[in-house]
Amino acid sequence: MTDPIISRDSPEPVVTADDPIPAPLNRIPTPVAPAPDILRCAYMELVVTDLAASRAFYVDVLDLIVTEEDENTVYLRSFEEFIHHNLVLRKGPVAAVAAFAYRVRSPHDLDLAVAFYEELGCRVERRAEGFTTGIGDSVRVEDPLGFPYEFFYDVAHVERLSWRYDLYTPGALVRLDHFNQVTPDVPRAVAYMEDLGFRVTEDIQDEHGTTYAAWMRRKPTVHDTAMTGGDGPRMHHVAFATHEKHNIIAICDKLGALRRSDAIERGPGRHGVSNAFYLYLRDPDGHRIEIYTQDYYTGDPDNPVVTWDVHDNQRRDWWGNPVVPSWYTDASPVLDLDGELQPVVARTEDSEMEVTIGADGFSYTRKDDEAHGFKLGNTL
Ligand SMILES: [Fe+2]
Repeated sequence: MTDPIISRDSPEPVVTADDPIPAPLNRIPTPVAPAPDILRCAYMELVVTDLAASRAFYVDVLDLIVTEEDENTVYLRSFEEFIHHNLVLRKGPVAAVAAFAYRVRSPHDLDLAVAFYEELGCRVERRAEGFTTGIGDSVRVEDPLGFPYEFFYDVAHVERLSWRYDLYTPGALVRLDHFNQVTPDVPRAVAYMEDLGFRVTEDIQDEHGTTYAAWMRRKPTVHDTAMTGGDGPRMHHVAFATHEKHNIIAICDKLGALRRSDAIERGPGRHGVSNAFYLYLRDPDGHRIEIYTQDYYTGDPDNPVVTWDVHDNQRRDWWGNPVVPSWYTDASPVLDLDGELQPVVARTEDSEMEVTIGADGFSYTRKDDEAHGFKLGNTL
């Protein structure tokens, strides 16, 4: 463990050998039961209020592949996927997230998931027939942070369309890349996720050691999910990968041509965190979708952890472009296992938006710069 505190002398991200986020005093107890072996984020179940409008957005605009559908549900996958779905759109009365689903290594890992969460005192439900079409034996839990998590192994295989260049479109989405969750207490969330087997790859802190966000992975990319500090539990976004940057530009061009440029919330741009190229969209219900490409390999056990200063203007956008306020404030509610909205708990620590803009906030491109009205101090 190395010193997590941002040095005032180091404007570049701080690189350490291990998770630099201080262990919280209020941490969720570590279960004695071993964690399930999670492979990757696999799919999200979204509740949408207008199924036709959502289908048009995800299928006609974003070109996701329809694996199966009925009058209430659409099962979608990306071009390189071989499991039944990466996204479920289910018609319902309130736009929300019903499940963040992870694939585990073996059927035995479902037994481990049950024991792990029961020891934590969480509500656990296991269904041999699965919770969604195409998936068999599954476990859903209300996790200690209030998120509906699912674990499954058994799943229907479908055609992997990787070589179907006759079907590819300029903005083709090729993989589900990650989730992003909003939670009030990031260090507490990170400690629990590390017990679940996740490893931190990058984070944002300040000179006082306050943690604003953390990125965590199982598969060897920058993340399978991130914890963003804010009122939660809420879902910040779900991200799909394209092969290359130009695919993201093509999505922007298509949205413009369709006179749907107002679906673009932020970007396109280059992230500081993750080094990925990005675009944030809002679907017809306001659910946030990120299109993401070209982050980096993180699979070695001693993968260096990158810590960004919250005041570094280039952490969220490498080119210093503004983060729109809605990106910080808006997120989707999540459901409990009865389908009811989970209550939201307010963040009490400093907010990233407030410490980086306004009368009390500041940000810099180079440390000790003076504000001159162009970018510096004007971004979020
Ligand atoms: Fe993301």
